[in-house]
Amino acid sequence: MLTPLPADPQPLREFFDEANYTHEQFRRNPTLRDLPSRRLGNLPVLLERTSQPTALHTLIRWFFLGLPLETKSYEGLVPPAIVSFLTGCGMLVRDGDRLSPTVMLTPCDGFLFAADPASRLESPEASDMVLWPNPSTRLLQMFTMRRPAQAMLDLGAGCGIQGILAAAHSRQVVATDLNPRATQFAAFNAWLNGVRNVECLTGDTFEPVTGRAFDLITANPPFFVTPSSDQMYCENSMELDDYCRRLVGEAPRHLVDNGYLQMTFEWVQVRGQAWQDRLAGWLENTGCDGWVLRSYAREAASYAEERIGRMMPWSKESAATRFDEWMAYYRARQVEEVHGGLLALRRREGRNWVRIEEVASLDLTEPFGDAVLELFASQDVLETDRSREQMLRWKPKLPPEARLEQQLHVAGGEWVPAAAKLVRPMGLPASLALEPDVADFLKNCDGSRTLYELSQQLAGRLKIDPEHVQEQCCAVVRKLVERRLLLVLPTENGA
Ligand SMILES: C[S@@+](CC[C@H](N)C(=O)[O-])C[C@H]1O[C@@H](n2cnc3c(N)ncnc32)[C@H](O)[C@@H]1O
Repeated sequence: MLTPLPADPQPLREFFDEANYTHEQFRRNPTLRDLPSRRLGNLPVLLERTSQPTALHTLIRWFFLGLPLETKSYEGLVPPAIVSFLTGCGMLVRDGDRLSPTVMLTPCDGFLFAADPASRLESPEASDMVLWPNPSTRLLQMFTMRRPAQAMLDLGAGCGIQGILAAAHSRQVVATDLNPRATQFAAFNAWLNGVRNVECLTGDTFEPVTGRAFDLITANPPFFVTPSSDQMYCENSMELDDYCRRLVGEAPRHLVDNGYLQMTFEWVQVRGQAWQDRLAGWLENTGCDGWVLRSYAREAASYAEERIGRMMPWSKESAATRFDEWMAYYRARQVEEVHGGLLALRRREGRNWVRIEEVASLDLTEPFGDAVLELFASQDVLETDRSREQMLRWKPKLPPEARLEQQLHVAGGEWVPAAAKLVRPMGLPASLALEPDVADFLKNCDGSRTLYELSQQLAGRLKIDPEHVQEQCCAVVRKLVERRLLLVLPTENGA
């Protein structure tokens, strides 16, 4: 049983840090790429790679590989004070001459997160498993906006990572989970990381926060689209994607004005509908503006194969039976594809907008929470300023990280410019092919001049009808703002 101790765990964190049990190490070290798995049969190689007696290898064997260690293998490498800290709070338990880990520890951006060891996934106790930070955790983490919040809700907190990371920019965080083991882990991890403004509550969805409203809600819910509901960390008891729909429907009541819900999710595409159709229905009349970014799509059979492989990596026979059940479930409900991505909702009075789009790939090495706020601000402007007169008052600005990628080809023995592309790399990437004239025009978009001034200048230089230039400039700038390649701020009236 994990128990936060009265003592400050800072010496423990420092020891892990000095031993190099860090995020950077996990990113670089090939030993830490694959968890030990019966299917991969990779334990012997992992043991070989951690055979040198070092503090790091000891910590990896305990808290990544989940192995018990005899006294002689950790003595002299892990100081007795650290061992008694680890046993005192329950991360290690004594078993004769051996110390066995009860948790897996994942370093993430300077924090350490305890979760269930991987071996639990292959045991009959997998159903209330508390998962370690994984790719969907990272996706939500990178997507989350980091503006200051009074109150933040981490719904379906698991080991508490989203709430604990948000605690740095929130006055108060509430971390909730249906699984009481998860809220225990979240409270433990808050203590382990010296974070004090996290309240952990157990209960279904919004039930633990009835009557409360938040500036920010994040959720990485159990969104797998499956016919079963036994694995709480990834499945839910509702039909298809109804649980995610329920979150979208209920969240607005728990958001303050200008408060955001940000979540990872999946939804289905059924026969006769486009992938966007179902979402449009979810986002109607929520009292919120909504943005969905689809980042993947799988045909039903590939989805089932991939997900089952991840949920039950150890058993080929039961995986085959499951596959048949899943496909029968999809067929009966006419599910052709499963789509996944990100959703942001912002509560706002007035006429709301919805934007549904897709992205080819997301770079999870860079946070892109700021891009979310920027997108909402730009979309507000696009919605309100539709006439040419309004748009001419915009002061467009090229984002500082935008790059023009120019290709050259050989003509007449010389390299001459061919295609050009405006690119916004990192985080939430964007790009668009540009004509040379447009690229030239964009040089001057530094946020100091109105589109009217910029188009007059261009018309003068090219000696063509200013009306025509204005029309062209408005169309191009609007498209670039829609694609997140130009920024516009709301204009003051009459500016
Ligand atoms: C995919 S995990 C996300 C954990 C963590 N937030 C993260 O980002 O890694 C989903 C979490 O939702 C919890 N959960 C499942 N059903 C729930 C419900 N009805 N209400 C609240 N939490 C739920 C699970 O126990 C699990 O911890």
